[in-house]
Amino acid sequence: MISKIKSCALYGINGYLVDVEVDLSEGLPGFDLVGLPDSSIRESKERVRAAIKNSEFLFPIKRITVNLAPADTKKEGSAFDLPIAIGIISCNDPIDKEILDSTMIIGELSLDGKVRPVNGILPMVYSALKKGIKQCIVPFENAEEGAIVEDIEVIGVHTLKEAINHLKKEEIIPRTIIDINSLMKNNTNNTLDFADVKGQEHVKRALEISAAGSHNVLMIGPPGSGKTMMARRLPTILPDLSFEESIEITKIYSVTGLLPNKKSLITSRPFRAPHHTVSNSALIGGGRIPKPGEVSLSHYGVLFLDELPEFNKNVLEVLRQPLEDREVTISRVNATLTYPASFMLVCSMNPCPCGYLGDDEKCHCQPEQVKKYLSKISGPLLDRLDIHVEASPVKYDDLDVKEKSESSASIKKRVLQAQKIQQERYKNESIYFNAQLSASQIDKYCVLGKEERDLLKNAFEKLNLSARAYHRILKVSRTIADLEGEEKIGLQHLSEAIQYRSLDRKYWA
Ligand SMILES: Nc1ncnc2c1ncn2[C@@H]1O[C@H](COP(=O)(O)OP(=O)(O)OP(=O)(O)O)[C@@H](O)[C@H]1O
Ligand SMILES: [Mg+2]
Ligand SMILES: [Zn+2]
Repeated sequence: MISKIKSCALYGINGYLVDVEVDLSEGLPGFDLVGLPDSSIRESKERVRAAIKNSEFLFPIKRITVNLAPADTKKEGSAFDLPIAIGIISCNDPIDKEILDSTMIIGELSLDGKVRPVNGILPMVYSALKKGIKQCIVPFENAEEGAIVEDIEVIGVHTLKEAINHLKKEEIIPRTIIDINSLMKNNTNNTLDFADVKGQEHVKRALEISAAGSHNVLMIGPPGSGKTMMARRLPTILPDLSFEESIEITKIYSVTGLLPNKKSLITSRPFRAPHHTVSNSALIGGGRIPKPGEVSLSHYGVLFLDELPEFNKNVLEVLRQPLEDREVTISRVNATLTYPASFMLVCSMNPCPCGYLGDDEKCHCQPEQVKKYLSKISGPLLDRLDIHVEASPVKYDDLDVKEKSESSASIKKRVLQAQKIQQERYKNESIYFNAQLSASQIDKYCVLGKEERDLLKNAFEKLNLSARAYHRILKVSRTIADLEGEEKIGLQHLSEAIQYRSLDRKYWA
């Protein structure tokens, strides 16, 4: 007696179909399972055996062979428990083959026969849809996540018994339906707002420019000047996510097992702030079968590195590839995987080891100490931070004002307008934002008049700017002009952009 159940495994953020083949034969009773890594096989066998018995089904006293095909990939996870159990039960107690052929089954079992949630339901249901499957039986807790895929029936089950009864049409469970429109609209649960940030107009302006042109930004300032506070508010002035973007982010969180409880779809831009002790693999992704790291968890959102010089120098080097390619490729013995990683990088740091450089009462750092501290940041990384901005200590007078500052919603309007201009301008290019301009595209889109060229030349010579600053200045001035709706980059745009390289000159040139 043989049965075949369709299930699914994950490869990166995509699912692929797996056939669970079960064969029962006469002979010495036994339970062989092939196609899983060694340790999970043993655990899965024990769970399946106990779950079947405790759900009042007969566990066959026969020779059981289970094969997960294709056999050449080692599949991870516990999501095959439910299909294996159903496969074994249906050998004795047949289920309509047509139904089994058009059903994908995913779920972990607990010993008492309950179905427990698993990671990666969203990409798995998508792959089922692509393969023409009609219904997916998934753990009840994952049903809403799966139901985001509208053109396939998603059935949430609590127990093995429920799944069997549904398949045998003895007790049909209705499909899970969710209202995607209201989910997408419900992204205003963000309580953060730039209106809470007093003063610091200069930094807020720099963040508006970064958001408008997708420029990476470095904030330098003393402790307590609001750097972290402002970074957290950056997602609130970025455009709302499209449904496709939400899906892409949700897939990443789904396979990582980080979907917030009761949330089926991530509808607001991620903000990730890994601690400076973060390891390479936690930052860019890793593990035996590589899982997404912080760079992918920040996809379409903000990656914030607070206290930049405290990070391991090597960790910063590994950021360069994802920053360049907007995706990250991780190679391991078992697999080479690519995860999306298109994020805005926001960094913050103190100007010196004590943090109060410039305040002669508080700061006694020696010039060599300051230099050593700053040299912890590599030139190539610094090169990828288009905008450097200094946050000054917050003054009492700034805090002691009743009226709120400009709201995020109001700043966002200008950001959206500037982004619209860029999308129009680059519709025949493969880029979306000024930050992505290549050297040749800069020549084409950041044309300067004679006066502007003179200003730039002057600034270079007088301020001793490095060559790397040149392209950054042009890109940023392009964004500043776009914020004003100006086609031509003018003197005031250029001189503001030059300001945002002042730190480059001061500390690193
Ligand atoms: N400009 C500001 N307006 C209103 N509150 C502020 C401002 N700056 C700082 N604060 C208050 O001070 C707290 C500390 O600010 P924050 O943690 O953002 O400073 P920081 O610059 O990141 O400091 P550190 O260098 O110590 O990390 C904030 O949570 C906020 O309550
Ligand atoms: Mg901070
Ligand atoms: Zn100091």
